[in-house]
Amino acid sequence: MARHLITSALPYINGIKHLGNMVGSMLPADVYSRYLRQRGHDVLYICATDEHGTPAELAAKEAGLSVADFCAQAHDAQKAVYDGFALAFDYFGRSSSQQNVEITQHFARRLNENGFIEERAIRQVYSPADGRFLPDRYVEGTCPHCGYDKARGDQCENCTRVLDPTDLINPRSAISGSTDLEVRETKHLFLLQSKLQHEVEEWVARHEAEWPQLASSIARKWLTEGLHDRAITRDLDWGVPVPADTWPELAAEGKVFYVWFDAPIEYIGATKEWADEDPSTRDWKSWWYESDETVRYTEFMAKDNVPFHTVMFPATELGVREPWKKVDYVKAFNWLTYYGGKFSTSQKRGVFTDQALDILPADYWRYFLIANAPESDDSSFTWEHFTATVNKDLADTLGNFVNRVLSFSRKRFGDDVPEGGTPGEAEAKLGEEIARLLAEYETQMEALQFRKAAAALRALWSAGNSYLEEKAPWLEIKTDKDGAALTLRTAMNLIHLYSVVSEPFIPATSAAMRQAFTLPDDTATWVSRTEAKTLTAVPAGTPFTVPPVLFAKLTDEDLETYKERFGGTAE
Ligand code: MF3
Ligand code: ZN
Repeated sequence: MARHLITSALPYINGIKHLGNMVGSMLPADVYSRYLRQRGHDVLYICATDEHGTPAELAAKEAGLSVADFCAQAHDAQKAVYDGFALAFDYFGRSSSQQNVEITQHFARRLNENGFIEERAIRQVYSPADGRFLPDRYVEGTCPHCGYDKARGDQCENCTRVLDPTDLINPRSAISGSTDLEVRETKHLFLLQSKLQHEVEEWVARHEAEWPQLASSIARKWLTEGLHDRAITRDLDWGVPVPADTWPELAAEGKVFYVWFDAPIEYIGATKEWADEDPSTRDWKSWWYESDETVRYTEFMAKDNVPFHTVMFPATELGVREPWKKVDYVKAFNWLTYYGGKFSTSQKRGVFTDQALDILPADYWRYFLIANAPESDDSSFTWEHFTATVNKDLADTLGNFVNRVLSFSRKRFGDDVPEGGTPGEAEAKLGEEIARLLAEYETQMEALQFRKAAAALRALWSAGNSYLEEKAPWLEIKTDKDGAALTLRTAMNLIHLYSVVSEPFIPATSAAMRQAFTLPDDTATWVSRTEAKTLTAVPAGTPFTVPPVLFAKLTDEDLETYKERFGGTAE
C-alpha cells in the first residue's frame, strides 16, 4: 500500500467549465484516484476553485455581484456539476480560503528571508479611460512571438508563451477597449526566479525521464528560454493580501499576490481545509511536509498549465527552503477540440459540463471522454463519434450483455444464480483471456495511459460477448440444461467482474451492476488474478435482479437534436 497524493489543475471560478477542460484535469484524476483506492492504496485527491485574479473580477462584474459573493455562488455551482459527474474528491476547496491566505503569506515571507523576493518599482499599464492600472489579463494585443491578435498580457493562448503586458504589440484595454494607455510607476514584489534557475534545472533533470514527453518537453523549452524574475503582486481588490508585517507599505497600498502565485499553493491550502474539518483524524502536513519518500504526488493538467507546474511552482517550493512535497509525476493533456475547433468558454462554443449532464447521465460522458482523452495528440469531439461510441461500446457491448444474461437466466432458471455443470475448456480459455486483459488494463492504468486502459476495458467487455456467442446458451439449453446454466453463471460472474473493473470509468453503472447480486460484500474491491481466471465471486444460489437498461441507445434523431442545439460543424 502506498500513499498517493493527487491533484488536478484548479478550475477558474469564472464559470461552468466545458468538457474540454474536464477531460484534461479533473476527470482523469478521478479515474486514477478511484482505481488506486480500489487497489487498496491510501489516496488523497484534492482540487479547488481558483478564485483570485482578473477572471473572477470580470465575471463578478458581469454578474453584478461583489467578487466574494460571486465566488461563493460560483464555487457551489461548479461543485454541484462535479458531484453530478461523480468526481470523488477527498476535498474540493477554495483558493480564497483563510488556509491558503496563511500558507501563501508564509511562502512569501520565507522566500523573502531567503533572498528570493525583491521590491521593485515598475512601470505599469494605466488606463485613464478605466481609471485604474490594468492587470496583465486586462491588456490585450498582438503576440510578439506568433502574431496572434487576441493575446492577453499574461499568456498567449495560441503559442502558450508567457508574456508581460508591455510585450504586446498594439495593446488595448480589455475592459473598455481603449487604446489610450499610459505607463505609470508603481512598486511590486518580484520573485527572483533567475536565482533559482540552476536548482530547478537540476530538479527537472531528476524527474523528467519519468514524465510524459508532453510535460518534459514544455519544461525543457521553458528552462531553455531562461527563468525570469517575475512580479508576483498586483493592484487588485481581490486576492491574498501582501502581509503587512513584512511589507507594510505595499500592504497599505492594498497590493495582493498574483493569482498564479497563490493558486498552486492552494493544493496545500485545500489539503489543510480538508484536515481542518476533522483535525483529530486528518493530518495535512503528513501529505505535504517532509513527505518525499512516503508520498507519491501526481498532478493532472492541460498543456498550457505545464510551465507553472513543472517550473514555476517547483521554483517557489525550492526557494522556500522547507521540505514541501514536490510533484513526482506530471500527467499533461493536449486539447480536446469541438469539431476540430476550439472549445471556448468566452465564445460559448462546444458542450459545457452542466449541459452535458442535462442530456445524459455522467457515465456516458466519463467513458467517452476518457476513451478519447487527448493524450498523445489533440482529439476532436463530434456528436457522430460520441453517439457511435455510446451505442457500440456502452449500449451493445456492455449494457446489452448484462441485460441479456440476467433476463435470460431469470426466465429459464429463476431468481438465483444457477449452478450448472463443471467448467470446461471454453471457461478455461475465457479465464486465461480475462486474466491477460486484466493485467493489460492494470498496466495501462498504472502507466496513466487512459486511452489504452479504456481499450483494455472494452476488450474485457468484448471477451464476454465472444464467450456468450460461442456458448449460445439460448441454443444450449435445448440440449444441455446444465451446460446452459454453467454458461450463465460464468457470464454472471463476468458481470460482477465488469462492475469492479469498470468502476473508475462508470461508477454509477458499476454500482448498479454489482447491486444486481445480493452478496455479503458489495464493495468494488479489486479482482485477484485467481478470480479473473476462475470467475467464482458470485456463487450459485446468489439471488439477483435484472437492472433497468444500463445505457440507452442514441438514435439518429438524438444526434440531429444535439447537433442542432450545439452546432455540429467546425467554426
Ligand atoms: N485556473 C488555472 C487554469 O484553469 C489552473 C490553476 S492550477 C494551479 O488554467 F496550480 F494553479 F492551481
Ligand atoms: Zn503567441
